Amino acid sequence: MKRIVLTLLACFSLLGARADEGMWLPALIGDRIKDMREKGFKLSAEDIYSINKASMKDAVVLFDGGCTGEYVSENGLLLTNHHCGYDAIQQLSSVENDYLTNGFWAKSQQEELPVPGLNVMRLVRMEDVTERLAAGEKAEDIVAEAKSEGYAANIQQMYYGNQQFLFVYEVFEDVRLVAAPPSSIGKFGGDTDNWIWPRHTGDFSIFRVYADENNRPAKYSAENRPYRPARHFEISTKGVKEGDFTMIYGFPGNTQEYVISDAVEYVAEVSDPMKIALRTERLNIISEAQSKSVEVRIKYAAKHANIANAWKKWQGEVLGIKRLGTVEKKRAYERDFEAWAKGKPEYENLLDSMRAAYDNVKDWYYMGELYSETGRTILLGQLAKLNSAEQPRWDVIEGIYGDYDVDVERELTRCVLKGFERYCLAGWFPATLQAEIEKYGGTIDAYVDYLYENSPSVSLQKAKAATREELLADPAHKLREAFVFEKKMYRNISNVPEIEQWYRTYMKALREWDTERAFYPDANLTLRVAYGSVAGYEYADGEYHHPVTTLEGIMEKDNPEIYDYNIPQVLRDIYASKDYGRWGVMVGGRYTVPVCLLATNHTTGGNSGSPIINGRGQLIGINFDRTWRSTMSDIEFDPTICRNISVDIRYVLFVIDKVGGASYLIEEMDLK
Ligand code: ARG
Ligand code: GLU
Repeated sequence: MKRIVLTLLACFSLLGARADEGMWLPALIGDRIKDMREKGFKLSAEDIYSINKASMKDAVVLFDGGCTGEYVSENGLLLTNHHCGYDAIQQLSSVENDYLTNGFWAKSQQEELPVPGLNVMRLVRMEDVTERLAAGEKAEDIVAEAKSEGYAANIQQMYYGNQQFLFVYEVFEDVRLVAAPPSSIGKFGGDTDNWIWPRHTGDFSIFRVYADENNRPAKYSAENRPYRPARHFEISTKGVKEGDFTMIYGFPGNTQEYVISDAVEYVAEVSDPMKIALRTERLNIISEAQSKSVEVRIKYAAKHANIANAWKKWQGEVLGIKRLGTVEKKRAYERDFEAWAKGKPEYENLLDSMRAAYDNVKDWYYMGELYSETGRTILLGQLAKLNSAEQPRWDVIEGIYGDYDVDVERELTRCVLKGFERYCLAGWFPATLQAEIEKYGGTIDAYVDYLYENSPSVSLQKAKAATREELLADPAHKLREAFVFEKKMYRNISNVPEIEQWYRTYMKALREWDTERAFYPDANLTLRVAYGSVAGYEYADGEYHHPVTTLEGIMEKDNPEIYDYNIPQVLRDIYASKDYGRWGVMVGGRYTVPVCLLATNHTTGGNSGSPIINGRGQLIGINFDRTWRSTMSDIEFDPTICRNISVDIRYVLFVIDKVGGASYLIEEMDLK
């Protein structure tokens, strides 16, 4: 009896361990559809991706080159996250019209605001071109042929080049802001709650895509009309419960699930700790300055959020890798692999070659990362370059100075140069920087003081008053040049060509050897499907985290004294009157509004803004985060703990209706 139970458990955990892992290519989703249907998906592979008819893929876009968005009306209405629309909202804001703080609700299409520079991309089709390339066709020709249809196109490698796919996109450049909640809702919880569950962020914003009279992409024009997507999502207002099927459709950016132990060790022992420590120091400087000045708080809000975001994520990643013992597990896996590879000439010495490649590369790769976390963050050097251009782009330059405080920058420069010195490998300190430091006082402190006293780029006024000769003689040029890194940096250390070349063979070998494993290509900002279910998790011994949060939690956090938790008065009033309209539901015996939900979908950066869909293909929310302790899922996915966080679509609708007074937008959507 005991034996049977143990065997059953072993089988279960083996299958379970793979359960919700994976970011699948939509064109190949047919391979997964049986599993998806067993888990509650009611539609077909053709509904997800088809080149013959409108399919869900036509309702999903790459938003602003790094997030995901989804159409929710036949008139091109597009949902994404507030943090994905943040740059656009900031760009359109001014002191008089502060849409970041107050929110924005266009009352009609005439009031929608064009966002110069913003684009969205729809995948027209993806096509396996491995054989065409193997047969001698040139990649440039294949891409050029696809582009001749008026599309954007590129070829992306899957499984480190074992497969190559052509991706063809339609690029829309007339994208307009329709609505955004105030940051006190859209960014509720701020960096305090970032990567955290329980979560209560109304992280959404609304855009509309415009096209020409033939429904084709066009530059901004008053003549353009709302784009009519081939497909948009219906919205489910019925809600979900623990265990319900969920699917995420979007553009995950970067994972490295198949790397060998040496790479994981580099990430967890070298790279992440260095980056975390350096960012801690920069964040301390910025936070301190922000606490003393409202102006600095605003100027550095976006920078602080950006620096803090990866900083917190890496901390979870290191913790997760250690907790899972990923390095040791991978070592054992590699030993088994080597035993199998013995006597197979193609694979026998493969891992040795890979380890040697990491050894050869890791010093310079580390230095490249150190450069980008230190010297390359110094704004003064970048400004010196822009200011001294033959024809300075003052519009760009003024924008940068707009979010710049000279005292903060001086301290940041000091901090990163000292950090650089501390983390620099012996023999790698740039000679030009050494010479500059010696020339101007001999210490980093003296050098930084010299720079900020003598550079004409320390302020917009000085830069504008300076002659071109003075700008060309700016001592900050040398600082910037010292941190020009001669090597190209890649997505991950494993993508450095000297290493990556071996992964092509390794992936091929793994797929021959580990026949039980369901392989999926690493994320690379191409369209993917992940599926799983609504689920809580055991957060700590005896402490279960439920997968649904409500307005009650917002009210518990509400505190006018704390910037991140100071909700708009209108929300307090609505709560007091319990006037939830059609969005009110019973949760745990209380009449309330659902806010966020937790699920087991395998996601990563880029999946922000992705639709989270129920088994009938209807939108139930917008993905915007993971829990920080699950961020090692970029390297190893742990189904017991890895969870993605979405804002419940009913909270989005509630805010549109009750806070924005914009129920006319809801009229446009298909509520089910
Ligand atoms: N952690 C989320 C992501 O990786 C949200 C980031 C934006 N929000 C913030 N509070 N910084 O992008
Ligand atoms: N917030 C992330 C994004 O902007 C998604 C969170 C994650 O890394 O899963 O894409």
